[in-house]
Order: sequence, then C-alpha cells, then structure tokens
Amino acid sequence: MNNTGFDDWLDACVAQVQQALDTALPADNAAPARLHQAMRYAALGPGKRIRAALVYAAGEAALGSSAPNSAQTIALNHAAAAVELIHAYSLVHDDLPCMDDDTLRRGRPTVHVQYDEATAMLVGDALQALAFATLALAPVAPALVLQATQLLAHAAGSLGMVGGQAIDCASVGQALTRAQLEQMHQMKTGALLGASVLLGGVVTGAGSATRQALEAYAGAIGLAFQVADDILDVTASTATLGKTAGKDAAQHKPTYVSLLGLDVAQDLLRDLRSQAHTALRPLAGPARHLTQLADLIVDRGR
Ligand code: IPE
Ligand code: IPE
Ligand code: MG
Ligand code: MG
Ligand code: MG
Repeated sequence: MNNTGFDDWLDACVAQVQQALDTALPADNAAPARLHQAMRYAALGPGKRIRAALVYAAGEAALGSSAPNSAQTIALNHAAAAVELIHAYSLVHDDLPCMDDDTLRRGRPTVHVQYDEATAMLVGDALQALAFATLALAPVAPALVLQATQLLAHAAGSLGMVGGQAIDCASVGQALTRAQLEQMHQMKTGALLGASVLLGGVVTGAGSATRQALEAYAGAIGLAFQVADDILDVTASTATLGKTAGKDAAQHKPTYVSLLGLDVAQDLLRDLRSQAHTALRPLAGPARHLTQLADLIVDRGR
C-alpha cells in the first residue's frame, strides 16, 4: 500500500477526535471526581481511533469535491467522538470479570483493575449516555441529528453490539456454524464500525446512492475488523496488541481461526478487502481514505 499522505491524515484524525473527546468529557475534578477520572482514563487512552477515522473518511466520500463547511466539520467531530465513546464503553464492559475478564487494555490496566468493578460498570453507563449527548450537539439539520441518533442507537443496542456480546457470552465452548459466527461478529463489532461509516455520510447529508455504497463497504470492513482481531489474538504478542494475546483459545471462544483455521481466515480477509474496494467504486477519488482504511483493517490481520 502506498501510504503517502495517509499516515499524516490518520494522525490528524486521531488528534481531532482526541480534542473532541477531551472537550466532551467532564473535567477530572468535577464531582464525582473518581468516576470522571475513570471515564477520562477509559476514553482518552491510546486507542487506534479507527472508528473516528471511518467517520471522517465517509464524510469526505459523501462530500465529493467540496470541502466541509464549518458546521459539517464540527458535526463530524461530534459523530467521531460519539462512536469512540460507545466503543470505549463497550471495551470497559467487555473486560469485566463477568465478561472476558481481562486485565490489560491499550497497554494499561483495565478500568476495573485500575479503579474497581462498580466504577467500571458506571463508567460504561456514563460513557454511553455521553455519546448520545455529544451526537445531539452536532450543529446540522435536526432531521439529520435524529437519523444519526437512531443509527447509533441501533448499532449499539440489543440488535447490534450488545446483542452480539450476548451471543458471545452464550457461545463459550460452543461450536458455531459459519453463519452463526458471522452474525455474532457483524453484531458485536461490525454494527458499530458500520454505524461510524454511515454517520459520516448522514451528518454531511449524503444522498441515497452514496449511502448505499457506504452500507456495502461497511458490511465488508465491519466483518473484516473482527476476523482480523480473531487472527491477531493468535498471531500477535501482548506487547504489540496492548491487550493479552491468546485469550480466545484460553476462554474457549468460537472465532474465525478456531472454525476455519488461520489460512482460510486470512483468505477471507482478502476477499472482504476486495468487496470493500468494489463497494467504493461509485464514489471514486473522494473515497480514497475509506479504501486505505479497508487496507489498514485487513493488513493488520495478515
Ligand atoms: C477492539 O477494538 C475491540 C474489537 C471490537 C475487536 P480496537 O482494536 O479498535 O481497539 P482500540 O480502540 O484500538 O483500543
Ligand atoms: C469485543 O470483541 C467486541 C466488543 C464489543 C468490545 P473481543 O472481546 O474480541 O475484543 P478484545 O479482543 O477484547 O478487544
Ligand atoms: Mg469479548
Ligand atoms: Mg474481549
Ligand atoms: Mg478479540
């Protein structure tokens, strides 16, 4: 992949969403201070910010050759912060002893280890509420904010991420079919990644043809992201991941690697990359950062 310009663009996305998150989060001396310190610890930690980057890249693709106006720029920042807040909450709860029982996240102790379990649960609750409060402040037409809110709520809820996590919990030690595994992955991870892509389009006023292309792209990269995460759990080190490697096998989780083996899982990643690229064809040049993000997501797992 020729990364000329892409790495700088990605760094700028990270800086922009970090600023938006810092502004959205209550100060760490606001009462109750311990809760707010833990929320900031969870949300401002060194994540890759891929969901935020998808929001910005989809905004560019939807706007085509025009630059975003200042309201659209602010709306993209709010949408990017909102998806990263939902994601941060999902990680805090995913790591709890009653879920994956992890002690390391983003290279640091998980929230329940650094603070305590009750605080970690409340941090997740509060980050979720803050995500919607942040999205509601996007300065675009109320109809677009409403659509964006419905989209994010659907992706985060029992028909999306939370539903996928419920299936994950119920699937420990089970042999899922490929269709069941795909559904679990699309819900627990694909839904929020897909919402990130669509939110970038919605807040910039994308028309229906653009939304259709974004939806097709989102389906491919959403699944690819969790397939790559399954692969990395087997192939990468704890130091590289910033989370404990080898957890899926240790906890008897069904994954693409346990079901199909490493080689077939990697072949699937390549297929998903070409599906993502094909989906973007109608959007042409302005979708180049979406194309490069698909490559980044897939190349992590290869
Ligand atoms: C990890 O997501 C959880 C999954 C959905 C697989 P990321 O790999 O995006 O985590 P961060 O945000 O970079 O820490
Ligand atoms: C997490 O899947 C999906 C979420 C909704 C957080 P994993 O449990 O595989 O994520 P990691 O590997 O802990 O980051
Ligand atoms: Mg999990
Ligand atoms: Mg986990
Ligand atoms: Mg994982």
